[in-house]
This record gives sequence, structure tokens and C-alpha cells, in this order.
Amino acid sequence: MTATILDGKEFAARVRAKVADHVTLLKEKHSVTPGLAVVLVGEDPASQVYVRSKGKLTVEVGMASFEHKLDADTSEADLLALIARLNADPEVHGILVQLPLPSHLDSDLVINSIDPSKDVDGFHISNVGLLGTGQKSMVPCTPLGCLMLLRDHHGNLSGLNAVVVGRSNIVGKPMAQLLLGDSCTVTIAHSRSKDLPAICQGADILVAAVGRAAMVRGDWIKPGATVIDVGINRIERDGKTKLVGDVHFDSAAQVAGAITPVPGGVGPMTIACLLANTVTATCRAHG
Ligand code: GUN
Repeated sequence: MTATILDGKEFAARVRAKVADHVTLLKEKHSVTPGLAVVLVGEDPASQVYVRSKGKLTVEVGMASFEHKLDADTSEADLLALIARLNADPEVHGILVQLPLPSHLDSDLVINSIDPSKDVDGFHISNVGLLGTGQKSMVPCTPLGCLMLLRDHHGNLSGLNAVVVGRSNIVGKPMAQLLLGDSCTVTIAHSRSKDLPAICQGADILVAAVGRAAMVRGDWIKPGATVIDVGINRIERDGKTKLVGDVHFDSAAQVAGAITPVPGGVGPMTIACLLANTVTATCRAHG
């Protein structure tokens, strides 16, 4: 079997086009321009790349982009003061603090200082609680993007066995909540799970979000399963830096029914969902 490629790049472009239409409508009918503020503390190279592409795509869909780049040794008090200003700014509808933060900063404290209605990452404790109890919330962008790809491919996910490998607050846990919300039977596994290959072999839907290059191999996959690869791992090969996922693509594609590539799968969906969440936040604020 050779798997269908789930083209996140193409899907994300369609989502962004819809977001752009919505932005035009908000400008024309409500005289409001959705605004997204992104806060980056320090010089982590991967974070700099993400923030740059978020800013570019924010402007491309017609929204206002506010970038705040702070020194790596910024104090917690200064960061909290900036977030308080963004919370109070009527031109800012969405706030994203790029993670990871330098270790002297308390990420939970910082994230929970964001106004939950502007928390377009869906990381604030009240959005986490709303999602966990099936209430209307801001939904974290990467799991939301994965869910959109899955719904697009399967239609209905009800009753399918879903295995999420990874238990992070950013991806694994909210992904499991979303799949449960779509009536999947959900298992959360992780790097310490006993007999991980056997757990994965039971999955109709396998989401790999564990942060280990090419860990999930073809013989871990049930024939015909849908494989969503959230990993973005930078490896050196032949003197060049290459991006690879958490799934060993070549072996997995021989067994899976459908698979996301890296790059060009989940990554573009994450940013498209961030822009969609910013429009949602704007609509709720001007509702
Ligand atoms: N770092 C890696 N992924 C994310 C994300 O989705 N949001 C934020 N704020 N930081 C991240």
C-alpha cells in the first residue's frame, strides 16, 4: 500500500483564504481590523523562524501584526507589564507568547496573565478547562489543525481508535480532548509507555507528537491507518540540516492509508488555525 498524502500546505492555503475573506468583512461591515500580537523573548533560532512566518502570514490575510521582541534576560515583571498593556489594547484581539520561554520565567504564570478571550493559543487555564469539559473555548492551534485534516479525510471520526503519542500541554493533551469530543476511543501514550509499538498498532488514527526524529516506523502502524506527524526535528545529514517528523516517513507510507508529510503537513495548518482563532476572538469581542 502507498498512502494518500494529506497536503497540509494546500489545505492551510484554503483556510487562510477563508480567513482573509472574513477579515475583509470585519473591516467593511464592522470597521475593525483583527490584530495579533506575538511576543518573543530571547533568540531561540526555531522560535525566530516561526515568529517571522506568523507575522508575514498575519499581514497577508489583512490583519494587523504587532511583534514584540524582548531580550533573553527580560524580567518577569516587564513581561507581565507588556501582557497587561496588550490585554487592555483594543487593537489587539489575539496574544501569543512564543514558547519555550527562557528558564528564569514562569511559563504558567505568564500564560495565565493573558486575557483568556485574547488567548489565541488556547493555553490559558480557563481555556484548557473549557476544552476539557466540552465547552466553547479557544482551541490550541496544532491539535485543531490536525483535527481539521482528520475530519477532511475521514468525514466522521466516531468510534475510531485514536492513539496520541505525546502528552504535552501544547499538543498531546488537547489533541486527545478533541478526538474524544469527536467520539474516538482515545489512548494517550508517550516515550515511557510499555510496548509502544503494540499500542500504536491498534490505532486507526495515530498522532505522533513526541519530539523524537523518525521514532514511529512502518511496522508500528496498522495497515490503512491515518498517520498525523506533528514532529519537527532538525537533523544533520550529509552536512545539511534537514527537517524530519516523529514518523519514519518512507516505511510508514508503505503501510498507512493516509499520512501527513514533514514539512508541508501539520506545520502550515498550525499557523492557519492561529489566524482563524484571531478572527474568532475578534468576532467574539465585536459580537
Ligand atoms: N512553541 C511551539 N509551538 C507553539 C505554539 O503553538 N504556540 C506557542 N505560543 N509557542 C509554541
